[in-house]
Amino acid sequence: MEALSYLENVESNARTYAQTFQRLFVSGKGMRIRDASGQEYLDCLSNAGTLALGHNPPEVRDAVMAFLGSDHLQQALDLATPAKHAFVQELFSMLPAKMREASKILFCGPSGSDAVEAAIKLARHYTRRSPLMAFHGGYHGMTAGALSAMGKLSPKSGDGLIAQGTHFLPFPYRFRCPFGTAGEHTDQLSIDYIRTVLSDPEGGVAKPAAVIVEVVQGEGGCIPASAQWLRALREITLEQDILMIVDEVQTGLGRTGTTFAIEHAGIVPDILVLSKAIGGGYPLAVVVYAEHLDTWGPGMHAGTFRGNQVAMVAGVATMQQIRRDNLVANAARMGELLQSGLRDIARRFACMGDIRGRGLMIGVEITRPAANQRAGQADGALAHAIKLNCFDNGLMMETGGRHGAVLRFLPPLSITEAEVGMVLDRFEHALAKTHETRPHLTREAV
Ligand SMILES: Cc1ncc(COP(=O)(O)O)c(C=O)c1O
Repeated sequence: MEALSYLENVESNARTYAQTFQRLFVSGKGMRIRDASGQEYLDCLSNAGTLALGHNPPEVRDAVMAFLGSDHLQQALDLATPAKHAFVQELFSMLPAKMREASKILFCGPSGSDAVEAAIKLARHYTRRSPLMAFHGGYHGMTAGALSAMGKLSPKSGDGLIAQGTHFLPFPYRFRCPFGTAGEHTDQLSIDYIRTVLSDPEGGVAKPAAVIVEVVQGEGGCIPASAQWLRALREITLEQDILMIVDEVQTGLGRTGTTFAIEHAGIVPDILVLSKAIGGGYPLAVVVYAEHLDTWGPGMHAGTFRGNQVAMVAGVATMQQIRRDNLVANAARMGELLQSGLRDIARRFACMGDIRGRGLMIGVEITRPAANQRAGQADGALAHAIKLNCFDNGLMMETGGRHGAVLRFLPPLSITEAEVGMVLDRFEHALAKTHETRPHLTREAV
């Protein structure tokens, strides 16, 4: 049986991207990938934001090949190795100065979810408190603890999966302000609300071990929190003696135009969760946390594959290339270019309700424009149709956010100006094609 139909027959219905992009993908270089028919796609998925340098970057491949051909341990539990030494030194050299000085690192099972589990566990252990606070729209992974902090209900709708003990707070989603304002007061209202919840002795909400937050919500629809909001949240957690866990699984290592997204606000969290890009395209996840929290004992968060040496080698090569080629600055610059190109296209297509993001983490919320309504209704079906037309037109991206209405651009940090232009061309072409069957998409028709 042909490979694609064989896989479609035997693979689970729970698979995701493979259901949308039904091709056999055979090669990748930079941000271009090819399917078995030879069709090329510009990849704005980047393995869900993992591939900082795109597919098969030569320097990373050379480092990995040299390592594979050596007698170094290829898997090493959490034993000390030269690869680990080099990785920790390189990663620490990239951390904000205040974190570099007095932090500990724990290698986790190699997924973002497992590192989130470790972060929650550490916070609970240290504070001796169990409740957790998380945000509407938050995404932290699919294991039980991480899932308990997820805003989206559908993945945990089965009996018993909605864990108790997590209190959800309103994220400053200005376009759809949870307080019903036009967005300009959203940050302040969110902070006031959080402060009230945490300080009201009759508010019915127990003091949590930690608040877990993304600086830019990724899967939740590419929603950036402002620097002021984050600083205010940090102040509250310090005042109230609650740990702050910042989940930079997706934003870490340059994606938002600074090496870590916390740098936009200049805050230092108690616990930082990292995965995706740090492994240079291979599975790796860590938590970096303030030294004084290191009160747990050996084995309190273990796992067989914590010692993914190949990922450490690839991670070092990736970090070195990011630094050498100024790719963090490139992400900031290309992100601005992409956002401004999208704003230009939005003048012609009314369905592009909101364009937002930071660096190369950009979302376009697709809406059904309505008179007398600032933010039209989120239109997931339309976003899906546009995504499929993008794919037909050689552009791969994902959707996320409420009702799947946000088209998400996550190209590699190494994207060039010419590639940004191609992404914009293909995107506009796909919008025009979608428009042929849905004329209400254009500005003129509103
Ligand atoms: C912010 C954030 N946290 C955690 C995770 C979970 O990581 P993983 O899928 O590797 O378990 C993700 C995955 O997309 C994420 O975006």
